Amino acid sequence: MKIYSSLEEWKAFRPSLPRSLGLVPTMGFLHEGHLSLVRRAREENEVVVVWIFVNPTQFGEGEDFGTYPRDMERDLALLREERTDYVLAPEVEGVYPPGFQTTVNVEALSSVLEGAHRSGHFQGVATVVAKMLCLTQPERAYFGQKDAQQSVVVRRMAADLGMLTEIVVCPTVREPDGLAMSSRNAYLDAEDRRASTVLYRALCAAQKAFAGGERRGPRLCAAMEEVLRAEPRAEVDYAAVVDPETFAGLDGIEGTAWAVIAVRIGKIRLIDNLLLNAE
Ligand code: PAJ
Repeated sequence: MKIYSSLEEWKAFRPSLPRSLGLVPTMGFLHEGHLSLVRRAREENEVVVVWIFVNPTQFGEGEDFGTYPRDMERDLALLREERTDYVLAPEVEGVYPPGFQTTVNVEALSSVLEGAHRSGHFQGVATVVAKMLCLTQPERAYFGQKDAQQSVVVRRMAADLGMLTEIVVCPTVREPDGLAMSSRNAYLDAEDRRASTVLYRALCAAQKAFAGGERRGPRLCAAMEEVLRAEPRAEVDYAAVVDPETFAGLDGIEGTAWAVIAVRIGKIRLIDNLLLNAE
């Protein structure tokens, strides 16, 4: 496994690699969710590249950029075990050198839900993902369903800008009690960790109502809110039922829909989602 911290060196090297390259973008502090993406990339590509970079531009003021968990040595050991070929681990100045001034903005999708609660977040994500897709020219890039709106923003950007990369979205990996794996879970104390299962329990309540025939968005939201209200540690940013393409809220559901939730528990903000289906 070769590690590049210099993007200039990587740029010089990339042309010697085959077209069949799978990219896994991450901010590090890897867990089974990230590793599931690496394994899928390993199955489907000749070369696997993992990007590790805590991207400052996608954190808002007062968010946790400074305290975001980092452990490069551990990450590299995990990636070696997964037979990763290359790791790109640039410095902030390498990604955003002096004079940097280009941004990518996926307009409407970035203004709702996560975008509305985290101003500038998706512009930061879209810009850094566009940059890494340019640098690596992957045939496929792997994202997690865990960050549903992010995956739709990235898909939209790739389609709108005519990028050749296929965006592959992989299922959410969960702890045995349903909590979606996340680097930020490391910061939950025992009581908050117990409370954090409320997201999945609320999503399951919406899914149960949907399976029982409920198709009215507000009723499905009410089913989630009832579960969330019962957990005093949870402060709800949103609990919504949305169109899978536009992320607009739905009154009545005809095809499929996503139930999406964002909750703050203590200082930690958690998000999760579930596809509503008839089974
Ligand atoms: P990060 O939060 O490190 O996540 C990297 C990738 O892993 C994302 O595509 C995310 O959806 C996926 N992932 C996280 N938890 C998961 C889980 N429990 N199951 C499956 N996949 C999971 O998302 C980012 O970093 C950044 O925004 C990034 C795209 C790297 C841009 O900076």
